[in-house]
Amino acid sequence: MRIGVPAETAALETRVAVTPETAKKLIAQGHTVLVQAGAGVASSAPDEAYRSVGAEIVDAATALGAELVLKVRGPSADELAHMKAGATLVGMLNPFDAEGLQRLAAAGLTAFALEAAPRTTRAQSMDVLSSQANIAGYKAVMLAAHHYQRLFPMLMTAAGTIKAARVVVLGVGVAGLQAIATAKRLGAVIEASDVRPAVKEQVESLGAKFIDVPYETDEERECAQGVGGYARPMPQSWLERQKAEVAKRVAQADVVISTALIPGRPAPTLVTEEMVQSMKPGSVIVDIAAGRGPVGPHGQPGGNCPLTVPDQVVTVHGVTIVGHTNLPALVAADASALYARNVLDFLKLVLPKGATAVQVPMDDDIVAACLMTQGGDVKRRA
Ligand code: NAI
Repeated sequence: MRIGVPAETAALETRVAVTPETAKKLIAQGHTVLVQAGAGVASSAPDEAYRSVGAEIVDAATALGAELVLKVRGPSADELAHMKAGATLVGMLNPFDAEGLQRLAAAGLTAFALEAAPRTTRAQSMDVLSSQANIAGYKAVMLAAHHYQRLFPMLMTAAGTIKAARVVVLGVGVAGLQAIATAKRLGAVIEASDVRPAVKEQVESLGAKFIDVPYETDEERECAQGVGGYARPMPQSWLERQKAEVAKRVAQADVVISTALIPGRPAPTLVTEEMVQSMKPGSVIVDIAAGRGPVGPHGQPGGNCPLTVPDQVVTVHGVTIVGHTNLPALVAADASALYARNVLDFLKLVLPKGATAVQVPMDDDIVAACLMTQGGDVKRRA
């Protein structure tokens, strides 16, 4: 089968869907891998590395015109124009983008969005949300350390003692847990908050303190259980109490890493302007939810903090707010390596060994969940 690997064209996207390592495996299975010239350069994989494993270096139209196209992000209108009806597309296609899916359906593509895979043990090796969030959590701490004009670890020197940085992590999913682990390795003192009670033990096992906000009603307890492992919007009563607890910690924090997301909904506001005002000058907020929150006073979607500006680093009330919307793209080589392995593992389900055409086994829960469009229709399950 001819498998196309176009260069990504979305702004600030540096990742690539197939690395030389995964190209080699696909070629070993008898497939022809067509990599657009330069597709891997930003993730440290030059054309020569693909050539050396047997891939062909082609132009954009040839890569996009393949029977199976492997991408990181959904195709632009220009890219879509080069894709063939009946072809298969695998990528992070944003299952909540109804218009985008409509365009893929209209182009006659069989499209699989990997973000829609269930959070089950079997799906773990193809879980792109986890592989990329893990990197985002790490990079968020690196950026915080870079922008923070003090040290993370406690240091006792001949010139005096330096206090350890106080880090508050808001939202402890995959990114939050990695942020805690990374900040811990740097010697910070960490507190963390999440709506899901299951997280408390994980936070404590990483050596951080959980900010407890006890549930007072059955509704609060029920919402906190989430759905499919994901958070649900919490009742206002709980959010108010959480806000009060978080506000106290944020006022004392040197660094806030916020990662709270609710699938298909705007990210919750957890760090208000008032809280930013209460922070010490020189403090840093890295808002991993940047661009996914409600529209802020600057007219663009903020993140967990309304003052966050997507893809900018701003200083407001003396606090540096980092708003990168694509942190994994700042660690392009490893983000691509993990993403490409996720893609390869997913392909085992729809392109098993020996197959010369893509199959769509709807009795496979992962395939059924990831299938977004087929035969001109949007198939995404509610
Ligand atoms: P996410 O990126 O959707 O959200 C990040 C975190 O924000 C979540 O922990 C969520 O509970 C939290 N959050 C939402 N609203 C909040 C609020 N108002 N205040 C504080 N925190 C808030 O989450 P992610 O990282 O995608 O993980 C989702 C779930 O999937 C987790 O339960 C995780 O353990 C589970 N998971 C399971 C896997 C498996 O079994 N294969 C693999 C990876 C994750």
